[in-house]
Amino acid sequence: MISIMSKQRLQGKVAIVTGGATGIGAETVRIFLENGASVVMADVKDELGHSFAASFSSEKVSYRHCDVRNEKHVEETVAFAVEKYGSLDIMFSNAGIAGPLSSILAFDLNKFDNTIAVNLRGAAAFIKHAARVMVARKTRGSIICTASVAGSFGGCAGHDYTASKHGLIGLVRSTCSELGGYGIRVNSISPYAVATPLTCEALDMEDGEVEAAGHALANLHGITLKGCHIAEVALFLASEESAYISGHNLVVDGGFSVVNRGLPSIKN
Ligand SMILES: NC(=O)c1ccc[n+]([C@@H]2O[C@H](COP(=O)([O-])OP(=O)(O)OC[C@H]3O[C@@H](n4cnc5c(N)ncnc54)[C@H](O)[C@@H]3O)[C@@H](O)[C@H]2O)c1
Repeated sequence: MISIMSKQRLQGKVAIVTGGATGIGAETVRIFLENGASVVMADVKDELGHSFAASFSSEKVSYRHCDVRNEKHVEETVAFAVEKYGSLDIMFSNAGIAGPLSSILAFDLNKFDNTIAVNLRGAAAFIKHAARVMVARKTRGSIICTASVAGSFGGCAGHDYTASKHGLIGLVRSTCSELGGYGIRVNSISPYAVATPLTCEALDMEDGEVEAAGHALANLHGITLKGCHIAEVALFLASEESAYISGHNLVVDGGFSVVNRGLPSIKN
């Protein structure tokens, strides 16, 4: 009985998951569905997105082409979710790109604009249009953005990406201050390294190599961070279990960002 109930933490809720075709987004689509939500997954990988949605053989999941850089796509995706499933309760703004790993001395500002357009402007567009619908319908919604440990300090990703994720955490805090008045929560999740198409392509490595590189720098041993761990955190922030949490940046890094291995410490 307990396990049946624990699987229905989003019963009757409607969610949009951007970047839902692969990686962390795909794991989140799966776990939201398992917990009773209806889910619109939005992405630009149409073939993958359609076949992933079809694999559930369920009316409760739909794929929608949406380039988050295009505000019209964003507005239409929100309208689609409301029209098809009757409301919008959960907005998981997760789509992202790694951007280049180039030196500031050879910085390509067009590439910088593109990284900001996907990782920050795209999230702003979804917060805007999701919040409009939630405010109009008096929905006590949950908006969640995927930031990164690179959103809190420098030196662990490219300059474009680091700037975009710092901006995203600021955007979450700022919009939380306005939307709290409507009962809408806004939070971010900051993962450590997960082997996904984003990291594999950025580092030109296979899954196992990304995970080995992650292990080499990790604080927490005996476990490999996977997309499903981040999806569980998204589920928590989407559900009533986090009913009074807003403006929070939930770091999922096994302690990576609060220890400094460069200084002498206790040996174990
Ligand atoms: N994998 C990691 O180590 C890690 C760590 C910290 C944060 N993140 C963040 O997690 C989020 C998900 O990334 P992931 O690691 O699962 O990678 P991923 O590549 O598997 O997923 C990202 C998804 O975003 C989609 N996307 C990219 N540009 C888009 C656009 N313009 N419009 C719509 N969709 C677009 C991609 O098609 C892809 O499906 C990203 O925001 C990323 O920055 C990842």
